[in-house]
Amino acid sequence: MVKIAPSILSADFANLEREIRRIETADYVHVDVMDGLFVPNISIGIPVVQCIRPVTDLPLDVHLMIVEPIRYAERFCDAGADLVTVHVESDSTENLLSAIAKIHAKGKRSGVVLKPGTPAEAVLPFLKEVELILVMTVEPGFGGQSFMADQMDKVRAIRQLIDRHNPGCELEVDGGVGVDTCRACIEAGANVLVAGSAVYRAENIPGRIRALRGE
Ligand code: DX5
Ligand code: ZN
Repeated sequence: MVKIAPSILSADFANLEREIRRIETADYVHVDVMDGLFVPNISIGIPVVQCIRPVTDLPLDVHLMIVEPIRYAERFCDAGADLVTVHVESDSTENLLSAIAKIHAKGKRSGVVLKPGTPAEAVLPFLKEVELILVMTVEPGFGGQSFMADQMDKVRAIRQLIDRHNPGCELEVDGGVGVDTCRACIEAGANVLVAGSAVYRAENIPGRIRALRGE
């Protein structure tokens, strides 16, 4: 079953509670955290995660686009994140493994994220330690960009690694996913699709969520 994780980066931040209620038929709330250093944009942080936690029962999928995520990972857990993902490019392998251990010690799920230029093999040190792997299908930093179809080989390669070494692990894609591109992601082996603009620009959001699942 394909899961949909709408990104609130495309929501109306002045009405975040209402915007989160609009996606209640989805499977996760995807929260994009940007620090202006790892990516050339600044979005939302710990206080916002804290505020949205009580307004939904959906799990919060917190995507950290920040340098040295080990410094903040536990605070996002305390703020109410259910799943915290860290970029493999954002620190040393040793520090990222420590960040993952800290997230687990908080009783939360953890995952690693790969930018488009990062090869599939970069997941190997983390493969057996995480509950989710996220493949970016745009350069992280902004919503509304075009889907990079050339990332599908990487998704296929990571699907094989997951099936062989950590079959319970989820495989998520993020960036430019819409009704025209969801099928390619699912066929390549992704089971969680992030969609920002494709969800929030839809007239009928529950209908769009069903369409993205391939229903
Ligand atoms: C990009 C973010 C994405 C983004 C997706 O850096 O990680 O989650 O919000 O937005 P769309 O679906 O519009 O590409
Ligand atoms: Zn994201």
